[in-house]
Amino acid sequence: MSQLFSSTSLRGLALRNRTVIAPMCQYSAVDGFANDWHFVHLGRFAIGGFGLIILEATGVTPEGRISYADLGLWKDEQIAPLARIVDFIHSQGAAAGIQLAHAGRKASTPVPWRNGFTETEEEKPRVGFEHWTPVAPSAEIHAEGKDFTKPTALDAAGIRNIIDSFVAAAKRAEQAGFDTVEVHAAHGYLLNQFLSPLANKRTDEYGGSRENRMRLVLEVTEAVRAVWPAEKPLLVRISVSDNHPEGWQVEDSVVLAQELKKLGADAIDCSSGGFEGATFNTVAGYQVPFAKAVRDGADIPTMAVGLLGDAGRAEEIIANGEADFIELARGALDDPNWAVHARHELGADDYELWPNPTKRVRERDRALRQRSFASK
Ligand SMILES: Cc1cc2nc3c(=O)[nH]c(=O)nc-3n(C[C@H](O)[C@H](O)[C@H](O)COP(=O)(O)O)c2cc1C
Repeated sequence: MSQLFSSTSLRGLALRNRTVIAPMCQYSAVDGFANDWHFVHLGRFAIGGFGLIILEATGVTPEGRISYADLGLWKDEQIAPLARIVDFIHSQGAAAGIQLAHAGRKASTPVPWRNGFTETEEEKPRVGFEHWTPVAPSAEIHAEGKDFTKPTALDAAGIRNIIDSFVAAAKRAEQAGFDTVEVHAAHGYLLNQFLSPLANKRTDEYGGSRENRMRLVLEVTEAVRAVWPAEKPLLVRISVSDNHPEGWQVEDSVVLAQELKKLGADAIDCSSGGFEGATFNTVAGYQVPFAKAVRDGADIPTMAVGLLGDAGRAEEIIANGEADFIELARGALDDPNWAVHARHELGADDYELWPNPTKRVRERDRALRQRSFASK
């Protein structure tokens, strides 16, 4: 019996298995609104058997978007198209989460598949083009010569507004019917910028010591938890390490996760990196040791992510207690049915996870003597 495909729960949320779709920016929204692209892109993972589908980094304010084409939840009108997606995900037996995000000084960057800001004047209104000066802990650009803009430093009122915006977005996520929200504190975006000495040069109570640099993430988490329904889990994604000798380290993340747990976070989504000068050893499962370190050090469930498409290894990670959930991003783009496929690979010979309209795959498998019929 596969542990990866056994049901589980987080707080009051029942999950059909431990597979998760990692948040993936689609750069396909206009004015933050979800559309048919998002519906189909996300819907296919629900059809594909995943347990939890976490929607992309969603701007809690317009200036918190990575690009003008990110999803947003800064106004009530943005709720309805997201609710449609959530309803479909639920109809397929999966749970729906959304990553609440502010990009800080990494905001207002070009859509990645364009070569810079190449939108024509004719295109700009149609795609919702906008370009703005970002905000950050300190007025230091993320990187020179790479389409980033020098930010302005947040003052006390600006910081208050960030917290309030996360709270307002969480309330809208609840109205949309999401089962969980994930606070995005990873990848060198705003909350990670506060955490990391690489970006936080403040001298007030939000800068300097680790305790001060953790303050904003903890305040956001506490404020979101206060409005997020008590029965619904709250996730936090962190870069467990900046992968940089002068940056945030694994031991810092263990302390942070302990504090997040006290504030009611239910799981830590364990990624890494996000600042210039980071080094990665991107082999299969390269971030699993981070998920294990946080799980062991803070006694909190973790999600492992990063090149985890091998079903056998994914099962082993859960069985060994290296992490509690297996998250896929690129692997799921490649195979949106990864979960149903992996379940067969791990020995299932029923077709339970295939949605009813697709169950006739079983007849094909029998005729071709493949998958569960290979040895029959
Ligand atoms: C197209 C794409 C968009 C992404 N957007 C986000 C995002 O919105 N938020 C986030 O935290 N990570 C984002 N990531 C990172 C993934 O969630 C994931 O952590 C990373 O790709 C490693 O997992 P993988 O090896 O399964 O792709 C994105 C990755 C991809 C490929």
